[in-house]
Amino acid sequence: MMRTSNKALRQPYVITGPDREFAASVIEGLSKPRKSLPCQFFYDARGSELFEEITCLPEYYPTRTEIAILDAHAAEIASGVDDGAVLVEFGSGSSRKTEILLAGLPRLRAYVPIDVSASALAEAKRRLTKRFPALAVRPIAGDFSRLLALPPDLAQPRKLGFFPGSTIGNFSPLAATNLLGAMRRLLSPDGWLIVGVDLKKDARKLIRAYNDAAGVTAAFNLNLLTRINRELEGSFDLDGFRHEAIYDPREGRVEMHIVSMRNQAARIRGLWFRFSAGETIHTENSYKYSIGQFQDISGAAGWLPGRVWTDDQNLFSVHELISNSAGTAVIPVAGSA
Ligand code: SAH
Ligand code: AVI
Repeated sequence: MMRTSNKALRQPYVITGPDREFAASVIEGLSKPRKSLPCQFFYDARGSELFEEITCLPEYYPTRTEIAILDAHAAEIASGVDDGAVLVEFGSGSSRKTEILLAGLPRLRAYVPIDVSASALAEAKRRLTKRFPALAVRPIAGDFSRLLALPPDLAQPRKLGFFPGSTIGNFSPLAATNLLGAMRRLLSPDGWLIVGVDLKKDARKLIRAYNDAAGVTAAFNLNLLTRINRELEGSFDLDGFRHEAIYDPREGRVEMHIVSMRNQAARIRGLWFRFSAGETIHTENSYKYSIGQFQDISGAAGWLPGRVWTDDQNLFSVHELISNSAGTAVIPVAGSA
């Protein structure tokens, strides 16, 4: 029998190193006729810090609205969680929202935060261990869309999934269905999932949320070029590019782009990429749903709709999804957007 040492349990469990895939994804994305970069690469240590700053901006309503919804309903959510259950969080970041749930769940078997950002995982583990000394925090570093199973000692207990922040909105509706299907299988049997989903609203409010006056979202977006320069021997001139956020009502999504302000070229590991003036690199989609649209997407992944909580302005929704073990089988395809 394989034995896991205590030392091994203290290390983050690694799915796949994002570093190895960064170069390949960047070269592939910048070689397309319409250039794009996967948004999961925003989250190096600086990107994670900038995202935390975004969450405090006056224009960025999703975080404070979702926190208020969770604060109001945490006891209701916690009342359905069995003693000894495992809480699995997808894209946990700072785990600030999780603290609201953890305060009412003193008898969990473990909390499993999954994130591509090793720095965010380490900081969250340090803070949570201090606040909840009895809690077993078992971070998993890597891409949650590729995680097929939990470590063997955590696979048996009943599992509650937590996927806040509307990170699901960063996937196309088809990719979101595939991801939710993969999560359902990971949390099975009898798993359930709490998902935060940003709602459709006035386009001006959306654009302000992704184009704040202080320029933090611009810095978050452009940090991707800084990361390429640092990690992939890139030669992007940061003064030659600017941030752009638009709302596409047909697709129902906010799009973030990096716009080239002139004709120029940049080198990445010896390969040259040309950018014409006004050409953009599409860096993120953030889909906005109605409650019914999201229930259709999660239903196609085999989840039954449970309770839905919203704020009084209907800005944001938190959905409870219940595993439908007879649900539709969905073949997962990798990738966001
Ligand atoms: N859940 C937090 C953070 C949301 S930001 C909140 O609600 O505030 C999105 C988080 O998901 C970041 O921490 C980012 O590093 C992580 N992330 C994005 N794509 C990911 C992926 N494919 N796999 C794992 N983590 C991912
Ligand atoms: C993590 N994700 C849901 C955020 C969003 O709103 O799409 C990321 C973000 N991008 C710009 N601001 C925040």
